[in-house]
Amino acid sequence: MPDFTGKVAIVTGATAGIGEAVAGELFLRGAAVVIAGRDEGKAHAVALGLDPTGERAVPCRCDVRDWRSVQGLVETTLARFGALQLAVNNAGITGPAGLALPDCPVEAWEDVIATDLSGVFYGLKFEIPAILRSGGGAIVNMSSANGMVGLPGMAAYTAAKHGIVGLTRSAALEYADRGLRINAVGPGYVDTPRMRETPPELLSRFAAAHPMGRLASREEVARLISFLLSDDSGFSTGGVYPVDGGYTAQ
Ligand SMILES: NC(=O)c1ccc[n+]([C@@H]2O[C@H](COP(=O)([O-])OP(=O)(O)OC[C@H]3O[C@@H](n4cnc5c(N)ncnc54)[C@H](O)[C@@H]3O)[C@@H](O)[C@H]2O)c1
Repeated sequence: MPDFTGKVAIVTGATAGIGEAVAGELFLRGAAVVIAGRDEGKAHAVALGLDPTGERAVPCRCDVRDWRSVQGLVETTLARFGALQLAVNNAGITGPAGLALPDCPVEAWEDVIATDLSGVFYGLKFEIPAILRSGGGAIVNMSSANGMVGLPGMAAYTAAKHGIVGLTRSAALEYADRGLRINAVGPGYVDTPRMRETPPELLSRFAAAHPMGRLASREEVARLISFLLSDDSGFSTGGVYPVDGGYTAQ
């Protein structure tokens, strides 16, 4: 089991869904966790739910579309805990679904790229120097099974998630010999609270898209991320790890 005692972690988009589960997993394994989210109230609630003392789980408002906000997140983390060893660049949106590419509004394209791709770039830009100054560590970026294969009707999302793979590989190579490992994960459809609003017939189609015939649980994704952040994966960098029930093996 990973042990993150004494380590400091940032999780973006930690106020809901997968990010909330990742924050919980890292906290459970001993890390101090900064719960970053656009909604300050929700970030407070998640942090308080994990740690009523406020010693090891703290909220921080951050909109990953704004580089100054991401810079502020890293500065706040360093000011509060004095170091940063772990980061999970998870925040993301799906954007338009089921729209042919010419019908995708430019504003929607820009919002998905700003959130899902530029948001990860900003994360890496400010986390990397902080982690190096803290003596090294590990970063995991949230891609998707659709960062490895295309999906009709979701051009912006698949483009951003493929872009994260390129960012991850390039960044990993830059820091491979400097004590900083950088990997990405590629979940298939995940059973999050938001996913439960999906009509049942669509959920069944999502489940059937995976050879294992079901969605991933948030915890299955969180545990893979935890492994990739831990010394147990000490020789892994620049990798993109599916957690997709065989979706991309087809
Ligand atoms: N749920 C899935 O099936 C699935 C599958 C593959 C990949 N992913 C990826 O996992 C990540 C989390 O997805 P989820 O399903 O938990 O979604 P979610 O909507 O439940 O949670 C997303 C989180 O990101 C935050 N967020 C969105 N825009 C932000 C911004 N501009 N700045 C800061 N935070 C922002 C939200 O507030 C929320 O906390 C996303 O990157 C998503 O693309 C999800």
